[in-house]
Amino acid sequence: MLESDTYGGVGVGFLKYVREEIRIIRERDPAIHSAWEVFLYPSFCVMMHYRVAHRLYLSGHYFWARYISQRGARKTGIEIHPGARIGSGFFVDHGNGVIIGETAVIGNNVTLYQGVTLGGTGKEQGKRHPTIEDNVMISAGAKVLGSFTVGENSKIGAGSVVLSAVPPNSTVVGVPGRVVRRDNQPLPRETMDQNLPDPVKEDIMDLQKANSELINRVLELEEQMKRIQKKEKETL
Ligand SMILES: CC(C)(COP(=O)(O)OP(=O)(O)OC[C@H]1O[C@@H](n2cnc3c(N)ncnc32)[C@H](O)[C@@H]1OP(=O)(O)O)[C@@H](O)C(=O)NCCC(=O)NCCS
Repeated sequence: MLESDTYGGVGVGFLKYVREEIRIIRERDPAIHSAWEVFLYPSFCVMMHYRVAHRLYLSGHYFWARYISQRGARKTGIEIHPGARIGSGFFVDHGNGVIIGETAVIGNNVTLYQGVTLGGTGKEQGKRHPTIEDNVMISAGAKVLGSFTVGENSKIGAGSVVLSAVPPNSTVVGVPGRVVRRDNQPLPRETMDQNLPDPVKEDIMDLQKANSELINRVLELEEQMKRIQKKEKETL
């Protein structure tokens, strides 16, 4: 993970950085055919802006930091707050609709797809955005909301909404997100409980309770009827 605010890249020379980007993009996008195409990638463009914006942010030039980052956002559809901390080997495939919040921390070799939000819930102060550890992949359209950590080597499925911490080496899918694989093994359903409220399960349990109360009441009434019929027979 990141050790300081000099995120991988800020202190690195431009050529070295471009070479690194070419390597990352060729490694992660099978659709690339030549090194020159790297210059057309939104991920490359936005990271050029982010490198400058983040440096300005760290030196307290918040207006110019945001100015640069907004220019990058307009060109690429990827909005990275200049305060976010991003490790080396970061790649956003396609790009449109990606938002990364101010207090997000992203480790090394993280991949995001289009439509990903690393955002806040609106309920937290201070650190409001997630920490994404090394080698995490966050699929298209996934929303990761809150100040928790997504553990290293995890995968977040397309369209998931993740609202709580994810252990390392996990696959999370669904809304709200639940862990379905850990350490490459499917997870049995009974261990999937992440203390998230499940309104459908609660409704079913209420219905089951009401049903057993009704059955007990019917049995009681049947007993009473039998006793009354017995008494009537005896008095005849
Ligand atoms: C999550 C993902 C990365 C697969 O990870 P994985 O660890 O290999 O997990 P699996 O494929 O074994 O799936 C595990 C379970 O989750 C389910 N699942 C997978 N992705 C899901 C999703 N996005 N939403 C809901 N359920 C999903 C699978 O059906 C499977 O369920 P089962 O165990 O009942 O059969 C992949 O499904 C995904 O979402 N990829 C999208 C990548 C992307 O954004 N591409 C865009 C390119 S433009």
